[in-house]
Amino acid sequence: MNINTLKIRELGEGNSQTYLLVKDISGRNARTGKPYVVLSLSDGKDTIQANMWDITASEFPVPAGEVAYMTLRAATYNGKLTYTVERARALNASDGVKATDFVKKAPISPDELFDRCMEIVNRYMSDEELIKLVRTVFADNRVQLLKSSAAKSVHHSGMGELLWHVYRMALTAPRIADVYKLNRDYLVAGALLHDIGKLRELSTDSMGLTSYTLEGNLFGHLMLGAQMIEDYGKQCGTAPEKIMTLKHIIVSHHGMLEYGAISQPAIPEAFAVYMLDTLDSRLYIYESEIDKLAPGEISERVHFLDGASVWKRE
Ligand SMILES: [Fe+2]
Ligand SMILES: [Fe+2]
Repeated sequence: MNINTLKIRELGEGNSQTYLLVKDISGRNARTGKPYVVLSLSDGKDTIQANMWDITASEFPVPAGEVAYMTLRAATYNGKLTYTVERARALNASDGVKATDFVKKAPISPDELFDRCMEIVNRYMSDEELIKLVRTVFADNRVQLLKSSAAKSVHHSGMGELLWHVYRMALTAPRIADVYKLNRDYLVAGALLHDIGKLRELSTDSMGLTSYTLEGNLFGHLMLGAQMIEDYGKQCGTAPEKIMTLKHIIVSHHGMLEYGAISQPAIPEAFAVYMLDTLDSRLYIYESEIDKLAPGEISERVHFLDGASVWKRE
């Protein structure tokens, strides 16, 4: 194994040299007044926090969003590995490391996901006005959709993972519509468009790093998404009642007011989109937790699964 390309999971106790993407650098002061930085470091799959002592954020030699070559010291503290960066430097041409290898990505390429979403529209939707609306929104925002993540952390935080999220929801939607005799058009369009406001709420840079935009902070993706559908609906000549229904699905997709919904689902299709959203985001967290475990192992309590532990069956 090439020691220079160690993955986070391969870092044992002691010192190791490896390349990691610097996702975030935040400066702090110890109680003694001495400065230190807390770094968020990623190998494209896992992310760890590491401290570097006696240095301010502006003194750290590699800017956030770039890959650093570093010496990391891992030590066990309270049963967990903790990490300290001893030394770090920026990449140089002789490293032969591609920064894009450190970007977390969806398991299917974004172009392929985009096409698959459009195939679902062709296959399962029949309302011409809603088909036109979904196609227009997707085509107009293609470039952004291909790279957007669905979150800063927690679920679907990788590049292009917003599409991965809405694709799996849209794939499930027609089945639910058939079983419960719901409107397929609204369920599929709702699945594909429910998070469209995230294109304005979050900005994802070329390294897949995500931050909230000003309007994201001020309004959130439910209101921004509803506004986008209002605008696109008018532009596409969608019937006002259909725009209203889709907007309702968007503003209620967090289900409960305490989870950030603007209103609670008033139609079964809105409730189903809320459940599909919960299903997909939770199962994504199960998948990522299982991925970190060895067969037979059980995880610690996972905050975003309401404190449930995840078990990887043998
Ligand atoms: Fe959402
Ligand atoms: Fe969502």
